[in-house]
Amino acid sequence: MKVLYLVFHPDLTKSRVNSAWTQAARQAGFTVKDMYSLYPNFKFDVEREQKDLLEHDRIVLQFPFYWYSSPALLKQWLDDVLTFGFAYGPKEMLKLAGKDLVLSVSVGGPQDSYVPGGYNNFTVPELLRPFQQTAFLCRLNYCTPFWMHGSVIATPENAKEYGKKMVQHLTDPSISDIWSVQKRIFKSMGIS
Ligand SMILES: Cc1cc2nc3c(=O)[nH]c(=O)nc-3n(C[C@H](O)[C@H](O)[C@H](O)COP(=O)(O)O)c2cc1C
Repeated sequence: MKVLYLVFHPDLTKSRVNSAWTQAARQAGFTVKDMYSLYPNFKFDVEREQKDLLEHDRIVLQFPFYWYSSPALLKQWLDDVLTFGFAYGPKEMLKLAGKDLVLSVSVGGPQDSYVPGGYNNFTVPELLRPFQQTAFLCRLNYCTPFWMHGSVIATPENAKEYGKKMVQHLTDPSISDIWSVQKRIFKSMGIS
């Protein structure tokens, strides 16, 4: 399985968690791209980006959780790269259909804040729903996301340990199966 690992962190030189995970992803043999270094001006080579997506089976988006979402470059990437006629549209235009999409997220706050009534109120998977629906529209298999709580206070050891867990998660073929409900919906719509 070919894994494309896109890293959206504004400054990896100042990162503890995302830099450790990026290193772990490189060691695992994934195709790793540091998107802020490649596109500091937010101007994508859309053809190149789309070609990379087509050439891989599992697409991973790694980012630090910023304001319950991603850093701005990832939003721009979604806007510019997942175009009509390539990522969504009539059935024959769904060029990414059947590939896996996995999110790999460093979350600053602790686990007990991401519960109903906690100061972050919602769980991380709930807050990631716009990504899940984006995958659904593009007929990508939205896999179980990977995330780490307490990233703001992570030690280099924590970050490294979670980097190993992240690689294990991303190389597990079964993570795309838990959304079997989604697959059933695809089937009922005549899309396999
Ligand atoms: C602009 C900004 C927004 C943030 N928003 C959140 C947030 O909504 N929830 C949260 O738990 N942490 C938030 N954080 C903390 C980051 O998620 C945390 O610093 C990051 O995951 C640590 O990873 P790093 O060591 O790779 O930089 C935010 C940090 C910044 C700078």
